[in-house]
Amino acid sequence: MSNSIPHGGKLVSRIRLNDLVDYSLNYVEIDRMELSDLELLANGGYSPLEGFMGRADYEEVLERMRLTNGLPWSIPITLSIEREKARQIQIGETINLIYEGIVYGLMEVEEIYTPNKKIEAQRVYQTTDINHPGVKKLYDRKDIYIAGPITLLKRSEKEKFEAYYLDPTQTRERFQQLGWKTVVGFQTRNPVHRAHEYIQKTAMEIVDGLFLNPLVGETKADDIPSEIRMKSYQVLLDHYYPKNRVFLSVFPAAMRYAGPREAVFHAIVRKNYGCTHFIVGRDHAGVGNYYGTYDAQKIFKNFTEEELGIQLLFFENSFFCKKCENMASEKTCPHDASFHVVLSGTRVRQMLKEGELPPKEFSRPEVVEILIQGLKEYNPEQIIL
Ligand code: ADX
Repeated sequence: MSNSIPHGGKLVSRIRLNDLVDYSLNYVEIDRMELSDLELLANGGYSPLEGFMGRADYEEVLERMRLTNGLPWSIPITLSIEREKARQIQIGETINLIYEGIVYGLMEVEEIYTPNKKIEAQRVYQTTDINHPGVKKLYDRKDIYIAGPITLLKRSEKEKFEAYYLDPTQTRERFQQLGWKTVVGFQTRNPVHRAHEYIQKTAMEIVDGLFLNPLVGETKADDIPSEIRMKSYQVLLDHYYPKNRVFLSVFPAAMRYAGPREAVFHAIVRKNYGCTHFIVGRDHAGVGNYYGTYDAQKIFKNFTEEELGIQLLFFENSFFCKKCENMASEKTCPHDASFHVVLSGTRVRQMLKEGELPPKEFSRPEVVEILIQGLKEYNPEQIIL
């Protein structure tokens, strides 16, 4: 085992793939985000949670960023159903959880309650603006939450990612096999550009290994699809990273775009995957201008290092400086911004779509090639820029 202790002490495991499905049970339909959450609840990624949150935990998370047992937790993990459906379900009943006609799991129903979405939006996203993708998603969800412990009966996206899909027990084993005592986790929903590479490698100077753990669950339409990103990560690792110092596997969660609160959530979940350290750079999990550049770092002041159980590595905004001829940040570079190679995500996606190459100071040519090719084949109409 690596040195990190799972959140709450032990990894939850609620997977029973050999059980027969009981089609006579009542059921609820879940969406793609809830399907991801079901899997992460079952495989221990969300330890100590064993199911979708009841009202007490939900409210405590909104108000204090903690579970009722006092452990830090910043994002509500909930399952939403229609009002009409709620009337048909009894407390104590076991129900099937269905996605696109297939039963993926079970829930023992402990509670049914009505959330206040406005309060949830304000607390989690710090805004009720419907233009925020997380707020929009929340408001589009059904009106009632249903809670209770779950069991996973069927895997969802495992086949799609094959060797890159590992549960926390398996990543922990791998880190141990690799002889890593300290492991830094890296979250991303983007291709890895030079700034990402720079902060990863700076961290790699002080730990045994890097766990590159890209999020591959639901993202907003203009983020680069996970299938294309996975190829770009592999080519980058093949060309620029020592083989035995990086481990790549996917994080199946949906992106919330909750900025600071999501950074805390990302850190805790990576602890469950076996990381001892976690990187938070500029505007982690941010979108638009909803969060300050370093808000996702400042939020960690609400917790002690001991109760989080994972060491945060904070990084300044990084860039290539033409005068330094190096990657740098305000902490290390004395030159003015006109020497810095900086491109917005939107601008990069636009360039890639048009087959234009972002400069090599911004992104490795091997990565760019995969992205341009991937976006061409993917059907660019599906990607809104
Ligand atoms: S996200 O999942 O956090 O939304 P993103 O790919 O944008 O994904 O960032 C991954 C990690 O790299 C985050 O911790 C983010 O703060 C950090 N990061 C991204 N770009 C930079 C940059 N130019 N300088 C420093 N940190 C960065």
